[in-house]
Amino acid sequence: MRRPLVAGNWKLHKTIGESVALARAILHRLPRETRADVLVAPVFTAIHAVHGALGESTRVGLAGQSCYFHDEGAYTGEVSPALLKDAGCEAVIVGHSERRQLFGETDETVRRKAGACLSHGLTPIVCVGETLEQREAGTTEAVVLGQLDAALEGLDASSVRRLVIAYEPVWAIGTGRTAQPADAQAVHAAIRARVSARVSPDVAAGLRVLYGGSVKADNAAALMACADVDGALVGGASLDAASFVAIVEAAG
Ligand code: 13P
Repeated sequence: MRRPLVAGNWKLHKTIGESVALARAILHRLPRETRADVLVAPVFTAIHAVHGALGESTRVGLAGQSCYFHDEGAYTGEVSPALLKDAGCEAVIVGHSERRQLFGETDETVRRKAGACLSHGLTPIVCVGETLEQREAGTTEAVVLGQLDAALEGLDASSVRRLVIAYEPVWAIGTGRTAQPADAQAVHAAIRARVSARVSPDVAAGLRVLYGGSVKADNAAALMACADVDGALVGGASLDAASFVAIVEAAG
């Protein structure tokens, strides 16, 4: 009943020209019918051009990699959900661990950003995940569910229904060290159980929970075969059309 979602996070990579070329290559390779929804998140400067390159096609959607929670104002260097929507986005990655670790993102800013996205009709892809130290200390579930609770604070059921959650263990990002499918499944199931308890079983059953962290063409199928893994948030392997499309195809 949940349609898988495969999203490519291009991070700080690619010029406008390279981004347009990659988007075109993905569109070209993508089978006409895919079971999964597909999103790409280029750098801000390339979003508008990629939107133009995708043209009328609805097979690949656009996401921002982050946003601020105000629409406009004296906030040098920031971009708002309203402007991302204007540029062609339908979703925004919120609270990526790189934002949390390097740019001072907190549970509170993640919550406000997710709320701002929702109020503009954008899908927030809220990232949660533990560090290696936290995993080794046995606190994975507490950390992940704590981040989840903070993001859900104040949201009504109809808002939570529109969220996507991405579980990205920090130790698996860019390291080539993927979570074992069973370990990913355990955390995904805990996320769904928490949403079921906090919001409703019905909302939890429809919630898409993506896995991210060194997802590649050769491990994607096993991860996405897990009952509670509803797709992937892909970094490095999304920078190449062939490997990204292979991951989309692995979703079924
Ligand atoms: P990698 O796929 O490069 O590990 O990155 C994952 C990620 O951070 C996606 O948001």
